[in-house]
Amino acid sequence: MRIDIITVLPEMLEGFINESILARAQKKGLAEIHLHNLRDYSTNKWRRVDDYPYGGFAGMVMQCEPIDRCISQLKAERDYDEVIFTSPDGEQFDQHVANDLSMKGNIIILCGHYKGIDQRVRDHLITREISIGDYVLTGGELAAAIIADAVVRVVPGVIGDEQSALSDCFQDDMLSAPIYTRPAEYKGWKVPEILLSGNEAKIKNWEMEQAMERTQRLRPDLLEK
Ligand code: ADE
Repeated sequence: MRIDIITVLPEMLEGFINESILARAQKKGLAEIHLHNLRDYSTNKWRRVDDYPYGGFAGMVMQCEPIDRCISQLKAERDYDEVIFTSPDGEQFDQHVANDLSMKGNIIILCGHYKGIDQRVRDHLITREISIGDYVLTGGELAAAIIADAVVRVVPGVIGDEQSALSDCFQDDMLSAPIYTRPAEYKGWKVPEILLSGNEAKIKNWEMEQAMERTQRLRPDLLEK
């Protein structure tokens, strides 16, 4: 899949997209992530992309023209399945949205900034608005990074063992069971006996019970879904 991220702060995302899972996915040819500096699409000699809001409100607003020019250029090169705007008033990002986006071919993520963007961009160019949580960030870059990371890691083949993406926390609206590695005892802290038993069926059963108990205790809202 291909993700094009439009931002006024490409430097903020450069390191992130070239590290870890995202770097591996790109090397394997399973994902492409491209950054576009919105200022490159400004027609203003100072490369401005914002202006004062009509109505005398406070703050600055991102203008239509640079955004339209950037998105139009991308759309002239290929078709896009979604043009996403990161915004605290968007749909709540979760594992289901990540899974859904991972099945798309090409997506654009426009990072919001300042007070907001001209509503006409949202009305005419954006197909989906996504929030990563009920708090306000200074810009949409962190939201775009989180979306790209969660989406790319569930693209088949990106993490070595495909099973491990499927058994992630939240994949079935459940938290995961606790996990342990060697040694079986450290400072008197013991790994649960059942995990050393070698009885696969019993272990599976234990995992399910643990996952259910944790979900009930820590995130009962997930079970209500
Ligand atoms: N931009 C600012 N706050 C945000 C949030 N919570 N989610 C997505 N984009 C944002």
